[in-house]
Amino acid sequence: MARVLGSFLLLVLVSSVALATDPSPLQDFCVADPNSKVLVNGFACKDPSLVQADDFYFDGLRMRGNTSNPVGSKVSTVFVHELPGLNTLGIAMARVDYDPWGLNPPHYHPRATELFTVLEGTIEVGFVTSNPENRFITKILHEGDVFVFPMRLVHFQRNLGNTNARAVSTLSSQDPGIVTIANTVFGSKPDISIDILAKAFQSSSDVIEKLQSKF
Ligand SMILES: *[C@@H]1O[C@H](CO)[C@@H](O)[C@H](O)[C@H]1NC(C)=O
Repeated sequence: MARVLGSFLLLVLVSSVALATDPSPLQDFCVADPNSKVLVNGFACKDPSLVQADDFYFDGLRMRGNTSNPVGSKVSTVFVHELPGLNTLGIAMARVDYDPWGLNPPHYHPRATELFTVLEGTIEVGFVTSNPENRFITKILHEGDVFVFPMRLVHFQRNLGNTNARAVSTLSSQDPGIVTIANTVFGSKPDISIDILAKAFQSSSDVIEKLQSKF
């Protein structure tokens, strides 16, 4: 009986792990073929006999990202769109550059957990748990420190310093997606009605209009 229960629990555990990330690959690789007309979950595979080393290679992280924007940070993604060899492999990464006091604003990844490592500087990070607790979990990280943002929770990072900062993230999907809270709520196309947002955020129409004009 205990053994049956044990196997059942193992099965539940294994299936929940399998469902928490991208589906497992069924072959060595499936380099994305962006020109394929076949619509699948992810990208169709390039003919394996035509695959080259460059399909597994990306040199776009050599330079610092351009942080000339209102938040003073730049996320340079290495998702399947930049690195076709990631297709079906359930992993991706990003480089994040920060100006002094630069902010990577509150956002979440609909398809990935994120493991964040500080390469340079001191960075304040935080995430908020789901309703009804909405518990704010925050930490100050130093060079070499690692922090995990659990899948689908809203999180941010801010450079706590007068010098540039730099970090690298790994993410548990070939295409994690980025949902930036301010952009989705105040910058949708077309706009969400002002009266809806005024009620949702319990504020006046002019506050909402001002926010919408910025995103
Ligand atoms: C950085 O981005 C700003 C704003 O988009 C742009 O004006 C500037 O030319 C960019 N700088 C470089 C070096 O690409």
